[in-house]
Amino acid sequence: MKTYLVTGGAGFIGANFVKYMLATYPDIEIVVLDLLTYAGNLKTIENDLKSGRCEFVKGNIGDRALVNSLFDKYGFQYVVNFAAESHVDRSIDDPQLFLITNILGTQNLLDAARRAWVTGKDEAGYPTWKEGLRFHQVSTDEVYGSLGAEGYFRETTPLDPRSPYSASKTSADLFVKAYAETYKMPVTITRCSNNYGPYHFPEKLIPLIIKNILEGKPLPVYGKGTNVRDWLYVEDHCKAIDTVIHRGREGEVYNVGGHNEMQNIDIVKLTISTIHRIMKEEPRYREVLKRKEYDADGNIRIDWINDSLITFVQDRLGHDQRYAIDPGKITAELGWTPETTFKEGILKTIYWYLNNQQWVEDLA
Ligand SMILES: NC(=O)c1ccc[n+]([C@@H]2O[C@H](COP(=O)([O-])OP(=O)(O)OC[C@H]3O[C@@H](n4cnc5c(N)ncnc54)[C@H](O)[C@@H]3O)[C@@H](O)[C@H]2O)c1
Repeated sequence: MKTYLVTGGAGFIGANFVKYMLATYPDIEIVVLDLLTYAGNLKTIENDLKSGRCEFVKGNIGDRALVNSLFDKYGFQYVVNFAAESHVDRSIDDPQLFLITNILGTQNLLDAARRAWVTGKDEAGYPTWKEGLRFHQVSTDEVYGSLGAEGYFRETTPLDPRSPYSASKTSADLFVKAYAETYKMPVTITRCSNNYGPYHFPEKLIPLIIKNILEGKPLPVYGKGTNVRDWLYVEDHCKAIDTVIHRGREGEVYNVGGHNEMQNIDIVKLTISTIHRIMKEEPRYREVLKRKEYDADGNIRIDWINDSLITFVQDRLGHDQRYAIDPGKITAELGWTPETTFKEGILKTIYWYLNNQQWVEDLA
């Protein structure tokens, strides 16, 4: 039995990772450490906790005594650090929380792993480590800054974070790399593009747009909606992390992306037209709409589900124009490629929200 510490496992990507790993490996146990901030939701992993192979601990990754005690109790072989403050807009309002969680919290986890995993010293004075360990940091393409119309982020692209969120994630990455260099700690880092999929908190673009359409509310789009992101279905990200923690080279960074660049405005329009089509072809889903207007025959109308719902709002401060990942390294070295096209992924995501409205309502 291998035991994993998954921090932030009640959040969007962390919870998807917990589900994916439990389904993929019958011989592992997972301990989820999560503070259950506004973004964490225990209901998301309710069924996983019933599996008998997953335990939950409510707590802060920055709590030294707690994290040390968990290492002592469970003897983790893997740490996968998802826990973070993750929303750029919130980082603009309150940067300090991002430093505390994303930088100090990560450094605390690194220290706890070092304390638990070091066995002695080699002749040159470097720590020696138990076998078969991995500390994995889940990072973001935002550490590279912003691109113009051309080019891609590669692992060699200089770090150039521009928001308090991305500055905090970059700092955390640098600490992880520093522990690899200074102590020869067995670490890896993945830097991934924008994720979407089930259990995504509806403050981020895609779940917010779906939620607002179903509620008949305006769809806020920053600036002119021309910002470009490279979208990846969350399960593909989970598979990439699984690949890197088991086969990635120690001390290395791997970029993870979907080969799927889209402007925000196109995402919004596609989401509107897809929901309209589903409502037209499968009228039973109209019951999910919170805005209910009826035609002369008593049917719930859907003609208002169109682009007129879009409302352009003042652009985000320092809004990065374009992110695009070159995932060539993880593909060439480890054989990972994204499996879900955007067309398939957005359809799965929309159906998930249509079928899981209770999950969204419970967040309120
Ligand atoms: N969402 C994306 O598109 C994306 C892309 C690339 C990388 N990432 C990174 O992936 C990770 C997960 O992102 P997400 O979208 O799932 O975030 P999320 O906001 O949905 O979840 C974060 C989780 O961390 C928990 N948490 C926050 N502070 C904590 C603390 N101090 N101690 C313990 N738990 C704490 C929250 O309760 C929540 O469950 C983050 O590190 C993020 O930077 C996200």
